[in-house]
Amino acid sequence: MSTLLKIDGLQASYGHAQALFGVSMAVDAGQVVTLLGRNGMGRSTTIKCLFGLLAAKAGNIVFGGQPLAQMASHQIARLGLGLVPEGRQIFTNLTVEENLVATARAPRAANQLEPWTLQRVYRLFPRLQERRSNLGWQLSGGEQQMLAIGRALMTNPRLLVLDEATEGLAPIIRTEIWNALAALKQEGLSQIVIDKNVGALLKLADRHYVMERGIVVWSGDSHKLRGEPEIIHQYLGV
Ligand SMILES: Nc1ncnc2c1ncn2[C@@H]1O[C@H](COP(=O)(O)OP(=O)(O)OP(=O)(O)O)[C@@H](O)[C@H]1O
Ligand SMILES: [Mg+2]
Repeated sequence: MSTLLKIDGLQASYGHAQALFGVSMAVDAGQVVTLLGRNGMGRSTTIKCLFGLLAAKAGNIVFGGQPLAQMASHQIARLGLGLVPEGRQIFTNLTVEENLVATARAPRAANQLEPWTLQRVYRLFPRLQERRSNLGWQLSGGEQQMLAIGRALMTNPRLLVLDEATEGLAPIIRTEIWNALAALKQEGLSQIVIDKNVGALLKLADRHYVMERGIVVWSGDSHKLRGEPEIIHQYLGV
C-alpha cells in the first residue's frame, strides 16, 4: 500500500506555549486513521499544521510525495486535502446548495476517485437535497454537519480530515454520519477522523494514533487497540 501522508517530528506552538512536541503519523492510500486523546492533547493543532493554518516550528509533512512546508492553506487544499473543521464553519447566510458549490473544485489528474457532484452529495445525504434552498442558519446541527462534509467532498479530496464531526449530535444523526464515512471508505477515500466515539472508530478505522500532551504515545490497528483496553482507559478516560 502506498503512503499518502507522512508527518514526522511535527512541533508547533501558540505564542510561547508549545502544543506539539514531535508528532509522527502516516496514512496509506485508502486507509482510515484516527487521532485519539482527551481534550487539549493536540489533535486539532496537528490538523491545523497539516492544512497550513498554523506554522510548524519543526518537522516534515509530505502529502502525495510533495512536502507541504511553506505552502499556503489554499495551495495545500488544492493538492487534495479536504477539511471538515471543528465547529463545522459552514456559511450560515448561504443556502445549502451555495455552500456546496462555493468552494467546489475539479479533481486533480492524480485523483483516481469518482468525481463529486451535487447529485452525488445528495445521494449520500438525502436530507441536504430536501434542504437545498434553506440557508445555513436554518439547518439543524446534524444537517450543518452533513453540509460541512458535503462541502469538503465537493473539493474532490484524496484525503478527508474530520475534526469532531459527530460532536453534540443526536444518536440517529451520528449513525447516519458513521454510515456515510464507511461508504466513503468503501469507495477508496482516505480519511483522518478525530472523534470521541471509540466504538465507532474501532469498526471504521485501520489504524489509531493516541495523543497525550502533544506527542503520539501509542499507535496500532483496531485489533491491537481492542486487545489493550487499558490504553483506552488511561489515555481517553473511558
Ligand atoms: N488558539 C489557541 N491559542 C492558544 N492555545 C491554544 C489554541 N488552540 C489550542 N491551544 C492549546 O493547545 C493545546 C492543544 O489543543 P488542541 O486544540 O490541539 O486540542 P485537541 O486535542 O484538539 O482537543 P479539544 O478539541 O478537545 O480541545 C491545548 O493546551 C490548548 O489549550
Ligand atoms: Mg480539537
